[in-house]
Amino acid sequence: MTEKNTSRFRGFYKLSLKQRLDLLAATYALDDATLSALQCLDPTLADHMIENVIGIYGLPLGVATNFLINGKDFVVPMAIEEPSVVAGASYMARLVSESGGFHSSASPALMIAQIQVLEVTDLNKARQTLLSNKSELLEVAKSADPLLVELGGGPQDIEVRLFPESPVGPMLVVHLILDTVDAMGANAANSSAERIAPLVEEFTGGRVHLRIVSNLADRRLATSRCSISPAVLAFDGFRGDKVRDGIVEAWAFAAVDPYRAATHNKGIMNGIDAVIIATGNDWRAVEAGAHAYASRSGTYTSLSQWQVAENGDLEGKLELPLAVGTVGGSTRVHPTAKASLQLLGVKNARELAEIIVAVGLAQNLAALRALATEGIQKGHMRLHARQIAIAAGAQQGQIDGIAEQLVIDNDINIEHAKKLVHEIENK
Ligand code: MEV
Repeated sequence: MTEKNTSRFRGFYKLSLKQRLDLLAATYALDDATLSALQCLDPTLADHMIENVIGIYGLPLGVATNFLINGKDFVVPMAIEEPSVVAGASYMARLVSESGGFHSSASPALMIAQIQVLEVTDLNKARQTLLSNKSELLEVAKSADPLLVELGGGPQDIEVRLFPESPVGPMLVVHLILDTVDAMGANAANSSAERIAPLVEEFTGGRVHLRIVSNLADRRLATSRCSISPAVLAFDGFRGDKVRDGIVEAWAFAAVDPYRAATHNKGIMNGIDAVIIATGNDWRAVEAGAHAYASRSGTYTSLSQWQVAENGDLEGKLELPLAVGTVGGSTRVHPTAKASLQLLGVKNARELAEIIVAVGLAQNLAALRALATEGIQKGHMRLHARQIAIAAGAQQGQIDGIAEQLVIDNDINIEHAKKLVHEIENK
């Protein structure tokens, strides 16, 4: 059915759960341990991960197919409860793959650790002293994580920001920039900031207060681009050039209006968060960074851009901070995260970021294409009908039939679903 390491699995959604797993195992040489890790987190392991554990909260884990990124094929694991996200990403990835796929890049893993300094009498002098003692500060910072330095990363630079007026008086903020290589980097950033804090007090004469990573990781950006010929965008009586122009108009709404931008970016994060969760990364950190980055001009706006190229193609670009790791955190502890990373076959955190940003762009395209044409509800409600059927009490074997009937009746709501369940039970 497929070639080795392809991401093109036609009709994947029509297969049973077991058939999908068999197909992935054969294509990606997954062993039994990896396959069983896809199924559940052991409660005893969970008990070591956080405090007061009483159980496991399950989320469906799906794979988005058809992703061609930088010339390489990927099936992308996504953990999410919302129907139509995985389908939307897969479908758009297929359209984009017909025009050469996604072109993604990611900067080195530069994180910012912040040190807040209060009670500084001369802000400018303190700033000058810190900058002229940069090498000593960086040397001391290196001692907080020698392994990181051995791996080619570690502290790189010191920057100083001044806030002459704050609610608690003048404030000086030190930014320690460090390359965290394949780790998300919060721990490395926090340890290094704590390590240099006494020296910062000595150089500034002030009092160090907070020492903590910044989630506005704007030195660690991931970017993805795609271009699609309008012919590929045509469907169901919608002309390709009209779909293309409708997508640009939909994007323009988010570009100028923060109320729309919040929803537009939420759609992007549907895809991004799902991969972040599947790979054991910190989605709250990425969410925080994404929305702060979307406000960098002073007005909250769209994270993506869509335009018509000179040759008439639709061109899309997404850029955002992506602090994700392939080591550290739960990426190497949670068995499903490990299995997801194995399925992706990524070499390092940069490659993971390149994939995630492409999924965000595909997700955005899926939402804009639907919104600009038939509206979001048609496709969404069709998939949502299955959840309505389950909520109404439909049993295995009844769910698809009831969902289909809800769609045929054009009445996708819980009361109608309950009536259908009742009718089956009383047949
Ligand atoms: C729903 O989860 C996401 C959308 O609202 C995104 C958007 O409006 O662009 C469809």
